[in-house]
Amino acid sequence: MLNSQYVLFVSKQEVLVQMDSSLQRPDGVVVTYRRMRFDFEEGFDRYWHGGSAFRSLFWTQLSTSFQPGERFFIDSARALKGVVDDPALLDELGAFCRQEGHHTAQHLKFDEVNAAMGIDVEGCRARFARSLSRGREIYGPVMQLGVTCALEHFTSGCADMLFATPDIAEGADPRVQALWTWHAIEEAEHRATCFDIFEAAGGTYTQRVTALVISWLSILLISLINTAVLLSRDGRLWTWDTAAGLWYLFGTKGVVTRLVPTFLAYFRPGFYPWEEGATVDGSVIRAWQERNAAHIVYLDAPTAAAL
Ligand SMILES: [Fe+2]
Ligand SMILES: [Fe+2]
Repeated sequence: MLNSQYVLFVSKQEVLVQMDSSLQRPDGVVVTYRRMRFDFEEGFDRYWHGGSAFRSLFWTQLSTSFQPGERFFIDSARALKGVVDDPALLDELGAFCRQEGHHTAQHLKFDEVNAAMGIDVEGCRARFARSLSRGREIYGPVMQLGVTCALEHFTSGCADMLFATPDIAEGADPRVQALWTWHAIEEAEHRATCFDIFEAAGGTYTQRVTALVISWLSILLISLINTAVLLSRDGRLWTWDTAAGLWYLFGTKGVVTRLVPTFLAYFRPGFYPWEEGATVDGSVIRAWQERNAAHIVYLDAPTAAAL
């Protein structure tokens, strides 16, 4: 874990400041539980992402990963909370758990609308759940938390990408975008919580990068299988839209292509989640919160009581 006594200069020439604790967080970043409301009552189009079956179903299937995935994140972090002796990190863990729990609740509402349209969300979710169950069986607690850290690096990397290059969401239904941008903001906000616990638990470099390779390849592979299955059921697998969708993922400015530097950054010995490529900082979070006040029913300060 980085020594909290030092002020750390980061690549963007920003300064990570010490808040009222030992945690290394940028100015203005406090992991905060926000109860949200989204407008899904009237539903949305099956192909809500600009009418593209591929782009819509790719993100639709990814949404189904959150229920088993965020359960895994919470369990793996709580399993090692005994190694945490910093009350501020324990407080942040409480806020992290509440955030992740609420992400799941809101994504389940999104999934329900998709299920009502006949999309096989349960089949997609089951593929993610099987993979995570296997992880629970074969890995010990520290390695499980390593997987969580790797996937938190994925979600916060997606958040940075979304805010740095919003064209990936171009044409998407604003009601659906509101859900994903909220989730992205909070993934960025808590990007270091599990990493700090992993380091406190003595997680090694080898465990960290092994977990990265396994978990990123797994989520990509399952996502591609899920998307292909959903497209096939809709009779839209072999189309120009699929070709365009693959370019949307793997083209020069594709979603996966843009994540490659994020993936590689994790291999640097001494990597820390707030150090490089963190587009979403305190000012971005504040600006998002002001723009989205209508969706926020309630927000809270972090508390260990949630544990
Ligand atoms: Fe989440
Ligand atoms: Fe997360």
